[in-house]
Amino acid sequence: MLFGDVSEELARRMVKALRDVTDFEPPSALVRVSAQSGVDYQCDLAMSLGKRLGKPPREIAADIAARLDVADLAEPPEVAGPGFLNFTLRSSWLAERTTALNGDPRLGVPVTPRPRRIAVDYSSPNVAKEMHVGHLRSTVIGDAIVRLSRFAGHEVVPHNHLGDWGTPFGMLIEHLLDERPSGPYAIRDLNGFYRAARAKFDTDDGFATRSRERVVLLQSGDEETLSLWQRLVDESTRHFTQVYDLLGIGLTSEDVYGESFYNPLLAAVVDDLDTAGLTEISDGAVCVFPDGFRNREGDPLPLIVRKRDGGYGYAATDLATLRYWTEQREVTDLLYVVGTPQAQHFAMVFAVCRAAGWLREEHRAEHIGFGSVLGEDGRAMKTRAGESVRLSDLLTEAISHAAEVIDDRADLSPEIREEVAEAIGIGAIKYADLSGDRERDYVFSWDRMLAKSGNTSVYLQYANARIRSVLAKADQDLAGARVLLGHSAERALALALTRFPEAVGAATAGHLPHKLCTYLYETAVVFSRFYEQCPVLDAEGPGVRDSRLLLAELTSKTLTLGLSLLGISTPARL
Ligand code: ARG
Repeated sequence: MLFGDVSEELARRMVKALRDVTDFEPPSALVRVSAQSGVDYQCDLAMSLGKRLGKPPREIAADIAARLDVADLAEPPEVAGPGFLNFTLRSSWLAERTTALNGDPRLGVPVTPRPRRIAVDYSSPNVAKEMHVGHLRSTVIGDAIVRLSRFAGHEVVPHNHLGDWGTPFGMLIEHLLDERPSGPYAIRDLNGFYRAARAKFDTDDGFATRSRERVVLLQSGDEETLSLWQRLVDESTRHFTQVYDLLGIGLTSEDVYGESFYNPLLAAVVDDLDTAGLTEISDGAVCVFPDGFRNREGDPLPLIVRKRDGGYGYAATDLATLRYWTEQREVTDLLYVVGTPQAQHFAMVFAVCRAAGWLREEHRAEHIGFGSVLGEDGRAMKTRAGESVRLSDLLTEAISHAAEVIDDRADLSPEIREEVAEAIGIGAIKYADLSGDRERDYVFSWDRMLAKSGNTSVYLQYANARIRSVLAKADQDLAGARVLLGHSAERALALALTRFPEAVGAATAGHLPHKLCTYLYETAVVFSRFYEQCPVLDAEGPGVRDSRLLLAELTSKTLTLGLSLLGISTPARL
């Protein structure tokens, strides 16, 4: 076993040994990476078995240890404290395993034996509005989840649930007709266009009436109306694509499955819920009251599937969406990367879909929630004028700040400087967003995210570039090099490098990119300790220079692959 996840391998062996001791089926997370020095992995299973077996945990741990067959990779496990089993990898095995990473493009990360087909709903901005900071998190987190899941070997279908349908389009189309703009640029200022339409709607009764009639025309498929609507969608999509390109996000117009896409499916959703006896009329609206959802007063909460006026809303569209993806596209998993305030909406949609049979036993649906981006004042981030911050402004600003961070070096051409500034600026924004637990809010701070030290992408990018420059200086073919672990700092680095599969696995399984960030940061820190203590270019002793160069190379590969799974690039020179 040279590749894969060592904690899982140890856990597998534990399970085997355990069969002789008890028929208890242990949970999967049996063996964990240990932070204790001298201990590489640790297991606390014996403690939870104490009661069940009526024996002191230390005795159980010793029993398991006696039956455990790990001699090929670890020293005999030690019983510690109240009944921990501590594992220390054999250095010779660790060296061999690290050496084997050389030439493996996956750096030991296994491909899943159970691939799933995963639909990921992310970004999902609204037509005729510019993307603002509120769309940053869904876009960046969703993209990382797509990359991680694909890398694990799953089939991933991204889809962009554009808000491109509903009542605002009546007023937007009427406004477009009134303005009769000649070129496509008339609506380039999407926000201004939306604001003007809104203002007219609120003050001009005639316009408001026309807008309402226009919605009816749109929904009944009137051709002229549809072509005007298409123009709004196209113009907005052009803007979204620009932002995605700048951010390095893979979403294209082919991934757009806007709300309008599901419009033809809505009537059947309501009919089938009716037939299944799941609907009730409440206040003239068709509702479903899924079990277990109550408001503060204790009254059952409705999911409104058809409004009193016969129109369909956000919830109906999400029911149709889920049904489309499980029934037509046969996905096994559905992930929705949407802010935490919509948690209840999704929980209710899932409950109704389960009741309707659109979400079955074999399916997994999960709302991947996230907190807000806050300004330095700790409140939702806004411009000085109190408006939401345009995402494109934010990205441009990031790149110009990044240009100031880059060392003023004459040997970087203006083109390279520009490329590097983009990698640093965009990387900083993404990493700041990904490196904290996604459920929490975070404060947006240029200083913090562009700092050259601490858990930032800039630190990691610099660490990587420094390693690349050492490797370039050595200019050595490392194909046959072997890792030697004579120094404790070398061992610590090798251990960190072989833990990459665990970090990627944890980030992928829990949809928690910050676990990968933490790992990459810790690995870069371990590398810098190694680099301080172990001369690389001037190493002495047979094979030591090659070994250290290989450790450096593997560190650079780990940082590069790890950051790429987060959508962050690593320039060779900064
Ligand atoms: N457009 C929505 C918004 O801006 C997000 C859509 C999320 N996806 C979904 N299937 N509801 O809030």
